[in-house]
Amino acid sequence: MAYAELKLKLKLKLYSPYLIVLVLSLSLVIIQGRLSTNFYASTCPCVFPIVKEGIKEATMNDSRVAASLLRLHFHDCFVNGCDGSILLDDGPNITSEKTAVPNNQSARGFEVVDNIKARVEKACPGVVSCADILAIIARDSVVHYGGPTWEVRLGRRDSLTANRSAANQFIPPPSLNLSGLVSNFQNQGLSFKDMVVLSGAHTVGFARCVSYRPHIYNDSNIDPTFAQSLQATCPGQTGVNDTILQPLDLQTRFCFDNNYYQNLLVKKGLLHSDQQLYNGNTTSDSLVKKYATNQCQFFKDFAKSIVKMGNIKPLTGNNGEIRLNCRKPN
Ligand code: HEM
Ligand SMILES: *[C@@H]1O[C@H](CO)[C@@H](O)[C@H](O)[C@H]1NC(C)=O
Ligand SMILES: *[C@@H]1O[C@H](CO)[C@@H](O)[C@H](O)[C@H]1NC(C)=O
Ligand SMILES: *[C@@H]1O[C@H](CO)[C@@H](O)[C@H](O)[C@H]1NC(C)=O
Ligand SMILES: *[C@@H]1O[C@H](CO)[C@@H](O)[C@H](O)[C@H]1NC(C)=O
Ligand SMILES: *[C@@H]1O[C@H](CO)[C@@H](O)[C@H](O)[C@H]1NC(C)=O
Ligand SMILES: *[C@@H]1O[C@H](CO)[C@@H](O)[C@H](O)[C@H]1NC(C)=O
Ligand SMILES: *[C@@H]1O[C@H](CO)[C@@H](O)[C@H](O)[C@H]1NC(C)=O
Ligand SMILES: *[C@@H]1O[C@H](CO)[C@@H](O)[C@H](O)[C@H]1NC(C)=O
Repeated sequence: MAYAELKLKLKLKLYSPYLIVLVLSLSLVIIQGRLSTNFYASTCPCVFPIVKEGIKEATMNDSRVAASLLRLHFHDCFVNGCDGSILLDDGPNITSEKTAVPNNQSARGFEVVDNIKARVEKACPGVVSCADILAIIARDSVVHYGGPTWEVRLGRRDSLTANRSAANQFIPPPSLNLSGLVSNFQNQGLSFKDMVVLSGAHTVGFARCVSYRPHIYNDSNIDPTFAQSLQATCPGQTGVNDTILQPLDLQTRFCFDNNYYQNLLVKKGLLHSDQQLYNGNTTSDSLVKKYATNQCQFFKDFAKSIVKMGNIKPLTGNNGEIRLNCRKPN
């Protein structure tokens, strides 16, 4: 008995250095591959007040811009992961995503990102990635409009490249039907429910006539009075007044609430893709009904799903870089 115990102890002693190395390298792999909420706790705690102040100042001039910024995080994450690729301008080796169809004449807020990034660089040079700044901005934008908050996971690095054709391929267009929307999100590892709850971001911000025109002229699942009133400013011919804006949530465009889902129940979704969420599919309809009647549940689920979206294929470890200027690689 005592002999066997001694033998085991000896064995453990012999192997323990190897065991420690094994455990350490395993946890390193895990840590490197994952984001954490305290990533800048010692290297740049100021990033949080800087972003918050930047959103506050930017929205004083333009109430809409926080919605535009929230959308940037989404359009970043759906194209090769959340890597700041959407922020890159055209360059010698870069075909910018900014002019991809879903972004051209539509994505905005880049000056606000520049401004915040410049202040963060002053406080902690070369430390905080543009991709992480977008993720913090997205949270603070939702909070700015009175929506839920969440702990932002950080540690993403920035891409060296952009891919316009990938932006065209992966950012969902408003023409998709329900199954198209579901599979578009599933391509990113996001579920049916993630898709329905993240679409609730359309509780803030605006869309152009060119985006909602097919829905107000060609779809039957729309309140006729609502369609008529929209047709008054968005003519049916392509190319005419394409950039006229309408709020995605008619009543409370600057308030992050569950009114978007209440509008879907009365066929007042602005985009074809919006109304697809309440169009007879029992799974989707019951989620919409739930969020329309339970804002608390919407907030909880939204926070959970946007964290999941923020985890899409981040660059970590030695991959990518910390861009000094979000518009170009170092
Ligand atoms: C489910 C698939 C989605 C589709 C098809 C879609 C499509 C669109 C379209 C067409 C616009 C109007 C663009 C324009 O006309 O300029 C828009 C605006 C917007 N989207 Fe989405 N979207 C989707 C999901 C999301 C998600 C997941 C988020 C964020 C979590 C989001 C946030 C926004 C915001 C905030 C705006 C308003 C932007 C502004 O006012 O500048 N969308 N979306
Ligand atoms: C204020 O917002 C408008 C867009 O609404 C923008 O064109 C302009 O550059 C902004 N001005 C400042 C000082 O940020
Ligand atoms: C562009 O890419 C080529 C090939 O990868 C490289 O040799 C060149 O230095 C790059 N130019 C710039 C301006 O980054
Ligand atoms: C972006 O939109 C502008 C204005 O409509 C247009 O001139 C340009 O060709 C578009 N860019 C791309 C890459 O489609
Ligand atoms: C860009 O994206 C397209 C479409 O997903 C893909 O076929 C292509 O290989 C990508 N280009 C680069 C350089 O990664
Ligand atoms: C949805 O759209 C896809 C592709 O456009 C089409 O093949 C499919 O039949 C549509 N599904 C429904 C239920 O309309
Ligand atoms: C609801 O839509 C999903 C995704 O397109 C599909 O898999 C499911 O069969 C649909 N359910 C019903 C009851 O139509
Ligand atoms: C409505 O659908 C018809 C037939 O598909 C198409 O020719 C027309 O351009 C569409 N109108 C709008 C405003 O999308
Ligand atoms: C386009 O918009 C302008 C300015 O709002 C308006 O005067 C004009 O009547 C619109 N055109 C059509 C065809 O609706």
